[in-house]
Amino acid sequence: KIIILDFGSQYTQLIARRVRELNVYCEILPYYRIPEPDDTTKGIILSGSPYSVTDEKAPAPDLTKVLGKVPLLGVCYGAQYIAKHSGGIVDSSETREYGRANLETLDNTNPLFKNIDKGCQVWMSHGDTITSLPKGFDVVASTKDVKIAAYHLPIRNVFGIQFHPEVYHTTQGTQMLHNFLFDICGCVPDWSPASFVAATVEELRNTLGNDKVVLGLSGGVDSSVAALLLHKAIGPNLCCIFVNNGLLRKNEFDSVLDSYKHLGLNVKGVDASERFLKELDGVSEPEAKRKIIGRVFIEVFDEEAHLIKDVKWLAQGTIYPDVIESVSVNGPSVTIKSHHNVGGLPEKMNLKVIEPLKLLFKDEVRRVGKELGLPENILGRHPFPGPGLAIRILGEITAERVALLQEVDDIFINALKANNLYDSVWQAGVMLLPVKSVGVMGDERTYESVVALRAVQSTDGMTADWVHLPYEFLARVSNEIINKVRGVNRVVYDISSKPPATIEWE
Ligand code: XMP
Repeated sequence: KIIILDFGSQYTQLIARRVRELNVYCEILPYYRIPEPDDTTKGIILSGSPYSVTDEKAPAPDLTKVLGKVPLLGVCYGAQYIAKHSGGIVDSSETREYGRANLETLDNTNPLFKNIDKGCQVWMSHGDTITSLPKGFDVVASTKDVKIAAYHLPIRNVFGIQFHPEVYHTTQGTQMLHNFLFDICGCVPDWSPASFVAATVEELRNTLGNDKVVLGLSGGVDSSVAALLLHKAIGPNLCCIFVNNGLLRKNEFDSVLDSYKHLGLNVKGVDASERFLKELDGVSEPEAKRKIIGRVFIEVFDEEAHLIKDVKWLAQGTIYPDVIESVSVNGPSVTIKSHHNVGGLPEKMNLKVIEPLKLLFKDEVRRVGKELGLPENILGRHPFPGPGLAIRILGEITAERVALLQEVDDIFINALKANNLYDSVWQAGVMLLPVKSVGVMGDERTYESVVALRAVQSTDGMTADWVHLPYEFLARVSNEIINKVRGVNRVVYDISSKPPATIEWE
């Protein structure tokens, strides 16, 4: 495996995903957890950082344990840090260099730059520059403005690059990572969905033996893939529970339950719609809605799980980004919205927890799902929040308002699918607003609800851009909604990005 030491850069996870796309397993560790060199660690990549190496409080781990023992690749801050601590000089540049640059000179005989073209474009994002290298370090690439854009310390097998090979704008960045992984570190490309499935199934069998496991299915990709993996490992000893909280999309409960049954899963559908709606009666405050839904889900799930005899384990669809120990540079971050829908479940149930996806990034979960035969209607579906339509109905939630939003949402989502737009949008949905507006239909004055359509592009939900859906498409959808759904006389389109807005309205 490869270790990526995280110094807090926004790109750290992207480095890890690139490495894995090259079929090499890697793990992200905070910079202060330098691993003991062993046979399994083939190389270490040091990430960038929001800090300046000249800053007193900058992360400064002791690398002596690994220096010269395994190949190192420093990226941006990582490169500056190694250079500075070996006796080089790093200065704050007068202008922050940000954006595209070209490698005007590079040493093709250097293993990191094998098959890299002179003049290739790289992506820079730094305030400091290495102005002088210690003895033994060679400059191996330069841009017009940055003389030391890449260096090599041959006797220690250490490489440093000022630019970011992991971002798309570094056009040959993947080739550079390829060179580092295979030529320099001697990695074997053995990380694939098939190998993950084989290894995980065996491990699950060893860990679980004949024990029974309970798992909550949500209709989403993560819980579905976790279920398929466990099903492959322990068959009917996996007992799945799929709760209808009454806040799912139109027909979602039945159609998803059907898909699960076709996959051979041992799944019980529990319709708790009324219970959820009753508990939500009169509640408008977004965080209060989330808390109620989280609590009622735990209660329902716990009751159902108790009906299953001798359950020992609770399976969860936790994925890798949830377990990476984050390097927090600005102190603990504030809660914008509480997303912990099912937090508290393991404590309450007193079961051992098993998390078969905790090594995987989201895109890898999808590939594993595909490998396991998860159908496209689950595999390709947009993310959907745990509290469901409750946080898309601004104000109070009633059965009527849920039904109305389900109709509108169904028209929008089906139109996206029919026009081949669904797969190119990361997430889409509709908000039901707590205002009424005046309209006219025939000769009648109307006074009805307003809905807001939302479609965003994103990679992880942390930032998002609104999608420029074609006007003609929006016009048709708006018409269809107003004509078909009684109670709606106005449709608007949300053109805000995140930040400063969020994806959901609550
Ligand atoms: P925001 O609105 O914070 O949403 O920009 C980012 C992503 O998270 C989803 N989301 C939630 N998911 N429970 C969830 O499981 C929640 O309470 C919740 N709130 C937002 C949202 O759909 C988007 O994908």
